[in-house]
Amino acid sequence: MTYIIAQPCVDVKDRACIEECPVDCIYEGTRSLYIHPDECVDCGACEPVCPVEAIFYEDDVPDEWEAYYAANVEFFNDIGSPGGAAAHGVVDKDHPFIAALGPQNTDD
Ligand code: F3S
Ligand code: F3S
Repeated sequence: MTYIIAQPCVDVKDRACIEECPVDCIYEGTRSLYIHPDECVDCGACEPVCPVEAIFYEDDVPDEWEAYYAANVEFFNDIGSPGGAAAHGVVDKDHPFIAALGPQNTDD
């Protein structure tokens, strides 16, 4: 099981979640961050600190953002399990689904 980062993170990337994760499994893409499904230990520390409430336990992802589960998982298809986001650095891509979105969360 894992936590998932959904639509409210896209084009926002507050990054407060990164500081809370004890296993450094929240990876930064171009427009969003992604939680590694195999490295996440379900501690839940990231979820309450996101100011835009983008983080959900996988069973609690709102229906409208269901696609973000696959986005978080598939983002790592060609990356594997680096075992640490800080050392791996920013990844110069997004999941194709997120890359294709128009500007998000810009009306505030
Ligand atoms: Fe995104 Fe929220 Fe983390 S906006 S970077 S999921 S703190
Ligand atoms: Fe890290 Fe959040 Fe999972 S703090 S271990 S990504 S629940």
